[in-house]
Amino acid sequence: MPGTPRVAGTASDRAFFGHPRGLVGLFFTEAWERFSYYGMRALLLYYMYDQVANGGLGIPDDTAKSLVAVYGSATYMAAILGGWVSDRLLGDRRATLVGGVLIMVGHICLALPAGAGALFASMVFIAGGTGLLKPTISASVGDLYAPNDPRRDSGFSIYYMGISVGAVAAPLVVGTVGQTYDYHLGFGIAAVGMALGLAVYLWTQRHLSEAGSRPKNPLRLSEVSRSRASLVGLGVACLVAVVAVSAVTGLLSIGATVNLISVLAMALPVVYFTVMLRSKRTTAAERARLRGYIPLFVAAVFFWVIQEQGATVIAQYADESTDLDAFGFTIPASWFQSVGSFVLIVLTPLFALLWLRLDRSPRAPSTAHKFGFALAIAGVSYLVLVLPASQGGLSSPLWLVGSLALVTIGEMCLSPIGLSATTRLAPAAFATQTMGLWLTAGAAGQGIAAQLVKFYEPDSAGTYFGAVGAGTVVLGLVLFALSPLLRRQTEAADSLVDHHEDALDVTGVHR
Ligand code: PHE
Repeated sequence: MPGTPRVAGTASDRAFFGHPRGLVGLFFTEAWERFSYYGMRALLLYYMYDQVANGGLGIPDDTAKSLVAVYGSATYMAAILGGWVSDRLLGDRRATLVGGVLIMVGHICLALPAGAGALFASMVFIAGGTGLLKPTISASVGDLYAPNDPRRDSGFSIYYMGISVGAVAAPLVVGTVGQTYDYHLGFGIAAVGMALGLAVYLWTQRHLSEAGSRPKNPLRLSEVSRSRASLVGLGVACLVAVVAVSAVTGLLSIGATVNLISVLAMALPVVYFTVMLRSKRTTAAERARLRGYIPLFVAAVFFWVIQEQGATVIAQYADESTDLDAFGFTIPASWFQSVGSFVLIVLTPLFALLWLRLDRSPRAPSTAHKFGFALAIAGVSYLVLVLPASQGGLSSPLWLVGSLALVTIGEMCLSPIGLSATTRLAPAAFATQTMGLWLTAGAAGQGIAAQLVKFYEPDSAGTYFGAVGAGTVVLGLVLFALSPLLRRQTEAADSLVDHHEDALDVTGVHR
């Protein structure tokens, strides 16, 4: 209806499975974006370590794994920058569009048979683009709901299904084409996927909340003091100079780049939490909620350390130590990267029922419980591999399938809930940036993984899975033990909430 302000997020809009109409467009846009990302990722390791004669880059496999990890890390780290650009300059909608275009260009770089240079160029485009698109599109989902709309959690579960639909299809299409025909053709299909995502977004964005059409906390000219601007300029100039000099003098080796990104990925969330906690724009209630969020964030980091190794260590294990001919045909190794999302899609309805039941019961699990469980089961998914990995020879693909199914159960207890909690507790002035902060959990996880994967050797795979798995189980149990304490802290935070707001803890459970 032209001329009528569209109020998204009202309980009356139930066009899509009882959810606002805008969710459909976001669902399919993100499905295509994730199709392009996970399709590219299903091929990336193999493309890097395959011999030049086979169309690969011939990079040693240790370096290749670390590079895949820091590629992912940089992608999610950029979300902080993307969130800032959206909150202060562009607004969510324009940021999503610009991001989609950059991502597509990144995949096109990889589609060209242009070697390592194109690989690094793609990293810059895809990191920049995903940094803009991923936090903004997730924040747009949050904007479809009023702050106390009870549909928010299930809205995010549906949205997460979109992510998974893209992620399950991608290795099957992009992975198969890339591994059987030509890597670049595979990457080309990823670019087409992103183009389709952009088309869907352009077509459906009119159903989104008005909140996304403007920056939420626009940068005012008066804020940009001369001294500040020159300070930022100086910082950027120094950075460019350091990178240029190190590149020219050969100091900026691949190894050094990997280490640099690892360190940045771990430092960034620390700096960002500090900035948000100290900002004058964050209210006392927001600050208290943010503090309660920190242990959950740490748990998420370690969860992603394991889960994201699906594209590195697990991908190598699938390629080199798994019997790919087990079922009478040769399974492309990239297909294992579909398993998790497949399991997620199948189990989501079951989990929806489970949460409904559990959240109503007097002993409803808190977010910390769910996150602790997620971590522990991620650890178990590695412990399961100790036996086949220690036996030597090729192991049955079913071990990997079982392991990936386990880690996915963890993902269902952590990832959609984390997204939903993030949109709710975000300090108003930092709306999209808080989503960026959530994504940096993935960045820090992969930054740590980039170092960890160096210890993986096919000959001692059992020891690797045992050590990393056991460590993660312990962390999960610690979080579990701490959860009563954390619950008390969130309750204290809630008591600070202004009267007109509902009392919510970060789990979204109404009390
Ligand atoms: N499967 C998730 C996604 O692509 C993984 C993820 C979660 C990545 C959180 C970054 C941050 O959305």
